[in-house]
Amino acid sequence: MNVKLLIQKAKNVALNSYSPYSHFRVGAALLTKDNKIFTGTNVENRSYGGTICAERVAISKAISCGHKEFKAICVIGLDYDKFLPPCGICRQFISEFGANIKIILANNKDEYKITSIKNLLPLDSLFELKE
Ligand code: THU
Repeated sequence: MNVKLLIQKAKNVALNSYSPYSHFRVGAALLTKDNKIFTGTNVENRSYGGTICAERVAISKAISCGHKEFKAICVIGLDYDKFLPPCGICRQFISEFGANIKIILANNKDEYKITSIKNLLPLDSLFELKE
C-alpha cells in the first residue's frame, strides 16, 4: 500500500471541494482490493443536511464502477493541521464494506496515522459476519 500516493491523491481532489458553507476542504482516496484508487471530496448543500462527505463520495464512485472490496481509505482536511477522523455516518458507511479497512488519517503537515474502521467503530454487529 502506497500511503504517500493515497495522501497525494486525497490532497489533490480536495482542491475540487464544494464547500461554500464551511470552507472546509476535504479529500478522500480509496484503495480497492485490486489496487485502483477512487477519490472523493465533500459536496455541501444549502440544505446543510444534504451535504455528503468526501469518504462517502469516494466509496460511492467505486461502488458504481463495480468495486466492492477495499483495503484502505485516506482522508485529509486541506486547511487542517490535525488528523481528521471520519464522521459517524462515514464510519458506518465504511464499515459496510469490511472491518479491516485501514483508515489513513492525514494532516496538511505531511503526517499521518493509520487505524482501522473496526477501531473507530467498535461493537458493530456486522463485523461478526464480514470478517
Ligand atoms: N467532512 C468530510 O467530508 N469528511 C470528514 O471526515 C469530516 C467532515 C466535511 C463535511 C462538511 O462539508 C465539512 O467537512 C465540515 O464538516
